[in-house]
Amino acid sequence: MTVKNICCIGAGYVGGPTMAMIAKKCPDIQVNVVDINEQRIDAWNDPNVDQIPIYEPGLAQLVADCRGINLHFSINVNEAIEKADMIFISVNTPTKTYGIGKGMAADLKYIELCARQIASVATTDKIIVEKSTLPVRTAEALKKILHNTSNGVHFEILSNPEFLAEGTAVQDLLNPDRVLIGGDETETGKLAQQELVDIYANWVPKERILTTNVWSSELSKLTANAFLAQRVSSINSLSELCEVTEADVSEVAKAIGADSRIGSKFLNASVGFGGSCFQKDILNLVYISKSYGLNEVADYWEQVIIMNDHQKRRFAKKIVEELFNTVAGKKIALLGWAFKKDTNDTRESAAIYVADYLLNEQANVVVYDPKVTAAQIYSDLDYLGTRSSDDNKKLLQVVSDPMEAISDAHAVAILTEWDEFITIDWDQVQERMLKPAFLFDGRRILDSESMRTKGFEFYQIGRG
Ligand code: UDX
Ligand code: ADP
Repeated sequence: MTVKNICCIGAGYVGGPTMAMIAKKCPDIQVNVVDINEQRIDAWNDPNVDQIPIYEPGLAQLVADCRGINLHFSINVNEAIEKADMIFISVNTPTKTYGIGKGMAADLKYIELCARQIASVATTDKIIVEKSTLPVRTAEALKKILHNTSNGVHFEILSNPEFLAEGTAVQDLLNPDRVLIGGDETETGKLAQQELVDIYANWVPKERILTTNVWSSELSKLTANAFLAQRVSSINSLSELCEVTEADVSEVAKAIGADSRIGSKFLNASVGFGGSCFQKDILNLVYISKSYGLNEVADYWEQVIIMNDHQKRRFAKKIVEELFNTVAGKKIALLGWAFKKDTNDTRESAAIYVADYLLNEQANVVVYDPKVTAAQIYSDLDYLGTRSSDDNKKLLQVVSDPMEAISDAHAVAILTEWDEFITIDWDQVQERMLKPAFLFDGRRILDSESMRTKGFEFYQIGRG
């Protein structure tokens, strides 16, 4: 088989950009991206490519280049499965919110549904590629479901974890550090692996395409995210120490980052990491470790999450403390809601937790984010379940102009490092705020000396 037709189930942050890149680099392959969410598919098909549901620099152009030629978005899942030689499963795997493993294990119901659907529809042999982040040994579950179909169809299962980071997805896909392809060590397993290697080899240098067994590939994905998150939690733990000593966390980060054994990336102290992967993957690692009775291993990784929760809470607490221990009825402007810049994704964003804390203190919270919709902001808060949806709407306001957010505010807090928050006219902001004008920089994007010169009461993570 040489792959001519690919189906991707799940048109989200992973499936959408990845398939757009494959379509662009493999003009001979037809790529069908399908999803049960009709609204999302309609948005992917919007004649105005700037309206596609996911904001990523460079993505709209990629979609414009291929859509309708060899890249198609549809809700017709069965038809796409039937036609495909290779099927990527790219559905969401959120942390379970119920039953055994609640709050920790990945909820595999969407994956299982996909597998059952593939099993019932397929009439020709297929290569199934697990693309979502999955706990180790998920492929085994997939295998069991798929191999128990009676129609004689042969499935090979590969694990091809995605390492793209949101905000830089197109660049990461174009020029990956490595592509990991896990497969069975059988003859047919190796052939399937080679089919996927050949696809990536259209633009990725061969030495960067690593083949492993399925389990190593699955575990590598969890581990990469756990290590990165651990670095952020490590530097965040030091940010608190810096605040009570004379040390400067940026200087510390620079000094240790210059050690080539450590390296300079992922050492920006912040209000806490967010995103769809870090917390979920670490919780998976914790859950798996516990289920094998490895309690010390579980506790070790769990501490990374505990530190992250502490960092978010401590930032919110700092705002209340500085504002004379009460924010009730005070207008507090939050700049940024996305979990980092250049994405409209808000999953696990620190902003959600900071806002929730301030709302509990009865603050009048006003949010501005350049790419996140008001509907998304309210849905994030409603999902937390701290208060009713009506109360969230009453207590928190979303605006589309940063100046509206800051006018007459007692305090401004930066929660996402959007470039426009660096270049905004801070003199004007200061003028329009109530005095004393409190500014809290949760992302370390502003220069503290110049902010103090402008007359702000300035606090920055890592700086007392
Ligand atoms: C991550 C992994 O990087 C990626 O390989 C994987 O496929 C998915 O998970 P992503 O969640 O998109 O990607 O974002 P990432 O850039 O890793 O940042 C995660 C969080 O950590 C963000 O909230 C970011 O603001 C925060 N962060 C990152 C810091 O606070 N400091 C840093 O130095 C780096
Ligand atoms: P990720 O960041 O992993 O890409 P997203 O939540 O952005 O996660 O995307 C996952 C997509 O998968 C969602 O759009 C969801 O509607 C879709 N999905 C989930 N289950 C199925 C299914 N059984 N068939 C088709 N699409 C599905």
